Amino acid sequence: MAFDLDMIKKVYSNYGSKVDAARKVVGKPLTLTEKILYAHLWDGNASKAFKRGTDYVDFAPDRVAMQDATAQMALLQFMQAGRPQVAVPSTVHCDHLIQAEVGADKDLATANIQNKEVYDFLSSVSNKYGLGFWKPGAGIIHQVVLENYAFPGGMMIGTDSHTPNAGGLGMVAIGVGGADACDVMAGLAWELKFPKLIGIKLTGKLSGWTSAKDVILKVAGILTVKGGTGYIVEYFGEGARSLSATGKGTICNMGAEIGATTSIFGYDEKSEAYLRNTARADIADLANAVKEHLTGDDEVYNNPEQYFDQVIEINLSELEPHINGPFTPDLAWPISKFAAAVKENGWPAKLDVGLIGSCTNSSYEDISRAASLAQQAIDKNLIAKSEYTITPGSEQVRYTVDRDGFLDTFGKMGGVVLANACGPCIGQWARHGAEKQEKNSIITSFNRNFAKRADGNPNTHAFVASPEMVTALAIAGDLTFNPLTDTLTNEKGEQVKLDEPKGWELPAKGFAVEDAGYQAPAEDGSKVEVLVDPKSSRLQLLDPFKAWEGTDIKGLKLLIKAKGKCTTDHISMAGPWLKFRGHLDNISNNMLIGAINFFNDKADTVKNHLTGEYGPVPATQRAYKAAGIGSIVVGDENYGEGSSREHAAMEPRHLGVRAILVKSFARIHETNLKKQGMLALTFANPADYDKVQEDDLIDIIGLNEFAPGKSLQIVLNHANDTKDTFEVNHTYNEQQIEWFKAGGALNIIRKNMGA
Ligand code: F3S
Repeated sequence: MAFDLDMIKKVYSNYGSKVDAARKVVGKPLTLTEKILYAHLWDGNASKAFKRGTDYVDFAPDRVAMQDATAQMALLQFMQAGRPQVAVPSTVHCDHLIQAEVGADKDLATANIQNKEVYDFLSSVSNKYGLGFWKPGAGIIHQVVLENYAFPGGMMIGTDSHTPNAGGLGMVAIGVGGADACDVMAGLAWELKFPKLIGIKLTGKLSGWTSAKDVILKVAGILTVKGGTGYIVEYFGEGARSLSATGKGTICNMGAEIGATTSIFGYDEKSEAYLRNTARADIADLANAVKEHLTGDDEVYNNPEQYFDQVIEINLSELEPHINGPFTPDLAWPISKFAAAVKENGWPAKLDVGLIGSCTNSSYEDISRAASLAQQAIDKNLIAKSEYTITPGSEQVRYTVDRDGFLDTFGKMGGVVLANACGPCIGQWARHGAEKQEKNSIITSFNRNFAKRADGNPNTHAFVASPEMVTALAIAGDLTFNPLTDTLTNEKGEQVKLDEPKGWELPAKGFAVEDAGYQAPAEDGSKVEVLVDPKSSRLQLLDPFKAWEGTDIKGLKLLIKAKGKCTTDHISMAGPWLKFRGHLDNISNNMLIGAINFFNDKADTVKNHLTGEYGPVPATQRAYKAAGIGSIVVGDENYGEGSSREHAAMEPRHLGVRAILVKSFARIHETNLKKQGMLALTFANPADYDKVQEDDLIDIIGLNEFAPGKSLQIVLNHANDTKDTFEVNHTYNEQQIEWFKAGGALNIIRKNMGA
């Protein structure tokens, strides 16, 4: 139905020659990661070796996937490009906006009402421009991608941090912001700093209570939440080959928790079995024909220290089940040490809720193993002491595990099946009583456990573990229970022990589904109308930004001189504003409200130079916009760090800010500003930041000679009639200067499309 066989054939058709060319320029055997990256260069065959951790490289990803929260602005922007169809196969997945409250059916029905306009928009825009659309209830983006789109040796980007899940099937899959997704769908290259590489050698074999989740829980403990930043993590070794494809997916998914760019496993028999079991035998055959290119070279895996920047070895035969947390996923406890840690730290030992499933852990293997424990609880007269929920990752998994009786088993244990959606994992959990903010413990098979993430309660101690451990602890209702050694008292007063979980990697009868929830796009979308209510508060079609007027820009008001940290959260706050992500004008009411004004040390209080009064930043800027007066934002070091949220660049552009002048930029934000046609400038001498005064009128000089590597000038016209003039730098290349002149990158694409 959904995968694009022709695209995959094309990718594989010259894979060997691309890998050979790369091996030649690099001059040594290649890791799998390098093979995939060099096989996806925007410019075709490799002509030079890239320096890891230094060189910025243009890539040509094969696919794009978007979830419903981030897809809105990505697609609104894509519409600006004037293309009749997306340039690469792309999909939208409605998973983030469904709130878990009572159970799957009712929660899904409520979401369909509450989010109707967003779903209608995403469905119609997908239909028009050739994107696959996965309806609410179809499943969670990463599980649906693994089941339908991931393929060995491929490269994809996705607008969600756990996109690396597809690495379980040998794909370089990287989480990005909506602006990047928009670019690739619009036919532009995608830029990434060539990553450094961590090799993780897995030896031995999992057994008993230990599962794939424990591998990544252990790795998180070793590398911490920052250890993977700037790295791709490549797993190899006999232990890696012994893991199921979905188990590998779990490990790659949670690589996001160590900050890794992505994680990946090579193609093997388990990958092949998963492809065949999920109705993709064609892809398995194609992959088999090029399989020597779909793993790292033997020499690399025999002498990993010579080829990876860092190497870790883990023996699966000795790996204990782990429980990580609370409040951070890298606080790793082997089960044998966990009970003591609970007692020593005074964490609530009573376990209130166990939650299994999510994009991280809802495979057939996960569910069947957890269900084997639930069945034991029933057989051994144990009543689960904690609440227990199951979040299937896709309708295909849900239907299959229902057919095979597992959901029934969970039901008998008191489990509640939630919608095939993110739900509690993204805080979409109407947990009753959470507002009382009581100290309590929950354990999940999800990936993140930061304070407030699941239920908004800062005192909820959330731990992450495998679905098997979550289920065992939920039966016990006690965090200090170690199912490997401890017994439980059953209803008859007997001491009983849980046996090791048992399950199946893949369903013996194959996967099945009645309605997977997929909507294919129209063959010819030209007549399809995109549905956006002009009165909507959540969605707004975009107008192209105006082109540069062709002169120096003079007389700008100082909107704010931001002091200290100014992250994308300070510039475009999340939380309650998320619902306006598809409405640029409404979300612009959060513009810079978190930034601290240098002149009064207050947030969201700046001088309106038209009235002399102090007021909120967005309202002040709107007053300038209404008066047709431009403004400038001045900032400190690393301005725009944090996320790749494109709203942080679009909002100032929309409200009429002409330039952002700072001591230094976070690179992604700087690029986002350039894409929107904004001037992103840095002080040549950072001390000039101190010269900017509150009442200055500011000129930007030299724009007619705007060229790569050539500085511009700033003139500060102070209120006392004195002036300060100094140089400012920029990092625009030729193409980016064209973006500035045209008023934004998408304006250029539209022009090139003749729209
Ligand atoms: Fe959704 Fe949680 Fe995964 S938010 S995409 S289920 S990490």
